[in-house]
Amino acid sequence: MNQTDHVPDVSGPSSDPGHESAVRLTPTMIRLRAVVAAARFHGLELDIRDFAADPEEESPSPASLVRWLEEQGAVAKGMRIKWRYLVKMSNSPPIVLMFQDGSAALMVNADPGKGVVWLRDPLKGEAAAPVPVDELRLSKIWTGDILLIKRRRDQSEADAPINFSWLAKMVLREKRSLRDIAIASMTLSILQIFPPLIVMQVIDRVVNYKSMSTLISISGIIVVFSVYEVLLSYGRRELSMVLTTRVDSRISLHVFSRLVALPLEYFERQQAGNLLGRVMAIYKVRDFLTGKLMTTFLDLFTLVVILPFLFYLSSTLAWMTVAAAGCIGLIVVIFMGPVARVMGAQMQAERERSAVLYETVAGIRTLKTLALENMRKQIWDEATAVVIRWKLAVGRMSNWPQTLVMPLDMFINRGIILIGAYLALVNPSAVGVGGLVAFMMLGGRVASPLVGFARLLDDFNEVRTALGEAASVLNQPTETKALTTGMRPQIKGALSFEGVDFTYPGSTSKALNNVNFEIPAGTMLGLVGRSGSGKSTITRLLQGVSRSYTGYLKLDGVDLREINLTHLRRSFGVVLQDNFLFRGTIRENITAGRPGYTIDDVVRAARLAGAEEFIERMPAGYETFIEEGSTNISGGQRQRLAIARAVITDPKLMILDEATSALDPESEALVNANLERIGKGRTMVIVSHRLSSLVNCDQICVMDHGSVADIAPHDVLLERCDIYRTLWMQQNRHTEGKARTGSSSLIAEGE
Ligand SMILES: Nc1ncnc2c1ncn2[C@@H]1O[C@H](COP(=O)(O)OP(=O)(O)OP(=O)(O)O)[C@@H](O)[C@H]1O
Ligand SMILES: [Mg+2]
Repeated sequence: MNQTDHVPDVSGPSSDPGHESAVRLTPTMIRLRAVVAAARFHGLELDIRDFAADPEEESPSPASLVRWLEEQGAVAKGMRIKWRYLVKMSNSPPIVLMFQDGSAALMVNADPGKGVVWLRDPLKGEAAAPVPVDELRLSKIWTGDILLIKRRRDQSEADAPINFSWLAKMVLREKRSLRDIAIASMTLSILQIFPPLIVMQVIDRVVNYKSMSTLISISGIIVVFSVYEVLLSYGRRELSMVLTTRVDSRISLHVFSRLVALPLEYFERQQAGNLLGRVMAIYKVRDFLTGKLMTTFLDLFTLVVILPFLFYLSSTLAWMTVAAAGCIGLIVVIFMGPVARVMGAQMQAERERSAVLYETVAGIRTLKTLALENMRKQIWDEATAVVIRWKLAVGRMSNWPQTLVMPLDMFINRGIILIGAYLALVNPSAVGVGGLVAFMMLGGRVASPLVGFARLLDDFNEVRTALGEAASVLNQPTETKALTTGMRPQIKGALSFEGVDFTYPGSTSKALNNVNFEIPAGTMLGLVGRSGSGKSTITRLLQGVSRSYTGYLKLDGVDLREINLTHLRRSFGVVLQDNFLFRGTIRENITAGRPGYTIDDVVRAARLAGAEEFIERMPAGYETFIEEGSTNISGGQRQRLAIARAVITDPKLMILDEATSALDPESEALVNANLERIGKGRTMVIVSHRLSSLVNCDQICVMDHGSVADIAPHDVLLERCDIYRTLWMQQNRHTEGKARTGSSSLIAEGE
């Protein structure tokens, strides 16, 4: 179906003669547009490019659309409903109806009286008149799936600080699972009373009076209860498993999106190994909430049920049991502080050790080339020694309470029975033999919930520390707001810096000092200057990596800080000196997983970057797999792939920060020749130490100590700018000198 006649074409996909018309959107695109339109109704601006298509799916499924919408701050729900319910949904916000061909339409209203729903073409916008469609016509194209979208009321959820109440909310959201688990546990607790009761009956009635019929009926009851107990425990385990995994996946998603929303600046200031360790601490908290905390509370139910029963059997024995269990709890509490202290030290030591491991793996290349293995081993050994020392200390420390608790435990399990037997001898009416056995069977269960409760307080400390660790990373201010709000203007590429000052956080000197210059769209701008003069800083400000500058930095006259960050970064193509390639094929690396690029686009980008020739020489061409760390391609090849990856989106602005400095002269010449072509129709900012590659730039900006020393084309600069002339002379001495002395070129080369 073509794009101007989408919705009315409800009689079947093939009946439209304009089907193969020139402007044609894939059904997937139509479906995405429908979702975007439905979200817009709620004031949410979505960008189709944010949708990460699942390669397994032919067209986006309601589930993956829901995932996308929730990531973008909406509440969405996909469901399958019948016509008779659909037609009743009048006066609701737009609903996305999924079509069998993979496209979709928007249902804007329904009329149960007339038996029609009103559909709007998602491609036509608000102005288009909706079309009435009846059940029969709709049933030919509709899959029965709909997607409901709502704006999230507390927009802040994605940004809410991560703390106990946040986590608890995550767990408590699973109301149904929690309720079922509680019911199962309570029933189990009650069931636990029956075996001792039955044993008591067996001893008192069957053994004493030798009654066969009672034995048979009791056996029947035992079997029934046992089956119940088995089924219920199975159910409870299953439920807690489901709960844990659900909470887990939700936490994972949140933690990850929070992590990637942190500004780049934050990562630059942190040690990666340490950072990961701290983030992972969140799982300790989850373990606690869905594990120990829950079981202990459930065990407390048991206590509530068992205690009265014990008191009913014999109050004297029951008091003794409670007192002993109380002592156990007390011992645990007393040792809690000291144990927590050594445990904290152990955790710290372990973190430091894993930082060593991480750094070693990450820097293994340098380590090997410098032959530092033995030194690292020594550092590792020392870190391990510290860990072991603390581990031992923790073991010793917790051995004490365990030892002290043992006699009390024995008293509950064995001593009580002796006392009970004595009581039975002295006063047979107080407690019978059957009652004694029943007591023995249940008494042991009193201690464990109490001890568990005491331990819980202990764990609580540890978990609070773990949560603090995770929060110290995840609760940093994120870029989320800038990434999801702000203007999305059409970008042409005119740049202006007006009195821009910038100091790196934690630094005392200005990295940029009153930078002023202006270039029209389509300019090829070279940035030169000594090392540390602020060239890379300029490119960072342009990409919105650092936003705490003062003055005005305008893109097409709009202050950069008002532009949506995602939109801004998408409008840029950036190539750095050292580019990271992901594991995957060359084609995947060039598209970088962004949807909507064909192999033709990939080839075009590769050609523009001068990469086509080497890719085609590779055994599998564009499907060649790039190993982790891009070990199977050379540095220059990697660089050209990075350039291809940047140009494939046809960005209006390109930044190349020393992008060609790792290339051999031949490939550099190739890329430089292509730069002219790449630069057509876009603004380029090229940072390079090799001035010869910037000669053809429209403007060259000379940076010095964070300020602009001059900005002009090459010839003019050579005339009037001392810094530029000096740099130029230094680099081109050998070509000029060659005529005079053959040996000076060697000196120049050595620089
Ligand atoms: N992440 C950072 N944190 C703190 N200071 C920084 C950071 N990055 C750069 N600087 C400082 O800012 C100044 C400008 O650095 P910048 O990276 O812009 O220089 P550059 O001109 O790109 O140098 P080079 O040619 O060596 O790449 C330097 O003095 C540097 O020490
Ligand atoms: Mg730099």
